[in-house]
Amino acid sequence: MRSELKIEEAKNSDHASVVALLEKTELPPDEIELHMENFLVIRHPESDRGPELLVGSVGLEIYEDSALLRSLAVHPDFQGNGFGTRLVDRIIEVAKGKDITRLFLLTDTAEDFFKKRGFVIVTRDKVPHDMKQSIEFTTLCTSSPSMMREI
Ligand SMILES: CC(C)(COP(=O)(O)OP(=O)(O)OC[C@H]1O[C@@H](n2cnc3c(N)ncnc32)[C@H](O)[C@@H]1OP(=O)(O)O)[C@@H](O)C(=O)NCCC(=O)NCCS
Repeated sequence: MRSELKIEEAKNSDHASVVALLEKTELPPDEIELHMENFLVIRHPESDRGPELLVGSVGLEIYEDSALLRSLAVHPDFQGNGFGTRLVDRIIEVAKGKDITRLFLLTDTAEDFFKKRGFVIVTRDKVPHDMKQSIEFTTLCTSSPSMMREI
């Protein structure tokens, strides 16, 4: 059944579910409401029973031809089943469709996960100016390593 769970575009009404998942996985939910149109989710078939049943999420904040990949989260009960990898693969396809050429991210918790998926550590001077004004760079993840992948 787990392999049948589908990745879907998020709706604005998924906001509370994504926040609940991010809190469960200890990621910051700040300002995701501004970017829900660029979020993907994996819904549990029984998600009408409660927001905690969202299986996965990932989103993009777009800054011209670059994007910040954020909020990659898989519910602890579902980790280790390839959902994180599928979400990254799919959000890269979404980004390509929006003429994004470079993906950035900030992570304290999954550096090796992203290295295996082609991201490299970059210094913050490589990050586009507008992205550096985002809440992640200015407030939430000020000391996290930044990573980048050309797509
Ligand atoms: C990181 C995360 C999204 C991975 O999701 P997942 O569905 O478990 O990932 P997959 O099943 O696709 O894992 C694939 C591989 O990555 C490894 N992996 C998983 N989480 C990892 C982590 N935090 N760091 C390093 N490697 C990790 C798995 O061991 C697996 O390795 P293998 O291919 O050698 O067996 C998930 O662990 C998570 O939600 N973590 C908490 C939130 C987080 O840290 N998000 C990233 C911050 S932007």
